[in-house]
Amino acid sequence: MIPISRPQIGEAEKAAVLEVLDSGMLVQGPRVAWLEERFAEVCGTRYAVATSSGTTALHIALLAHGIGPGDEVITTPFTFIATANSILFVGARPVFVDIEEDTFNINPALIEAAVTPRTRAIIPVHLYGHPCDLGAVMDIARRHDLVVIEDAAQAIGATYRGKTVGSFGTGCFSLYATKNVTTGEGGMITTDDEALADRCRLLRSHGMRRRYYYESLGYNFRMSDLHAAIGLAQMGRLEEFTAKRRTNATYLSVHISSVVTPQVREGCEHVWHQYTVRVDGGRDRDAAVRQLNEAGVGTGIFYPVPVHQHDYMRDVVGDVSLPVAERMAKEVLSLPVHPGLSRADLERIVEAVNGLCG
Ligand SMILES: Cc1ncc(COP(=O)(O)O)c(C=O)c1O
Repeated sequence: MIPISRPQIGEAEKAAVLEVLDSGMLVQGPRVAWLEERFAEVCGTRYAVATSSGTTALHIALLAHGIGPGDEVITTPFTFIATANSILFVGARPVFVDIEEDTFNINPALIEAAVTPRTRAIIPVHLYGHPCDLGAVMDIARRHDLVVIEDAAQAIGATYRGKTVGSFGTGCFSLYATKNVTTGEGGMITTDDEALADRCRLLRSHGMRRRYYYESLGYNFRMSDLHAAIGLAQMGRLEEFTAKRRTNATYLSVHISSVVTPQVREGCEHVWHQYTVRVDGGRDRDAAVRQLNEAGVGTGIFYPVPVHQHDYMRDVVGDVSLPVAERMAKEVLSLPVHPGLSRADLERIVEAVNGLCG
């Protein structure tokens, strides 16, 4: 089976981990700070703060912005659950706004109608590695004095009008095993705001600046040096990985003719965390998945249920209708696009997809 994702772990990552093990400094050595520097450089921000995951990055970014009970946060229903859960973790209320059919990202034309006096922030997601309409989102945020926390978990290196995602608002990234670069588990917050970066650093480590003196309630959301060592080796290969993903995506788009292939908006550079087609027109997506899997092609459904339709989330937000997200959840199907694919793999994927019946 051609897997839907495959972490690209080579000799550099293995050697980096062994070096940390030999050093005896498994958790509080220098590598986390080195990875933060490298990350800030790639994102074009002054600061980057490493965390234990993308989920904890979102959680402390919201806390660091002072968002909590009584506040509303506008976000997309078509995302990984952590985006919305982070809003619940801080006691705020998610408000879901429907998405655009071509990018699968939050539709900025619908955001303003969802703004209330309690709205404090917008969390747009750059889903699959395609930047959301940041120009429009940032304009709305400025007009209503809202914080923007970009969920860039899937989008390291993607650009909007030449500027890297994660540098518009406060950026939150995931370095989970399947992401474009990985530390195994890990996350990162990016910002130009020194005070905000400082609050994030405090929150990720028990509210502690001086050893065993605590300035506030805090968490253990730290990244270890072992994880950072893997990340440093991976960051050295980011350009190579992204270029390979782009070449693979182009090959798939040129050759696939049986389903709706993904679009890239003008002014956006996609990093192809996922290559997501649509099995549209009422065709049976789940049958397509079965046929592809039988042909040895791994697939992913990101995501089969929009966030607002999970029972526990419905208890919070009530019954809302978000027709585009609901339809996309039935139509999307992701195909392998990772840098580990060979030419033969790509040919096999195209043949299987173009051979779909029904
Ligand atoms: C859009 C999005 N947000 C947040 C996260 C959470 O990141 P993590 O799994 O590192 O906690 C992910 C990870 O899959 C994601 O895809």
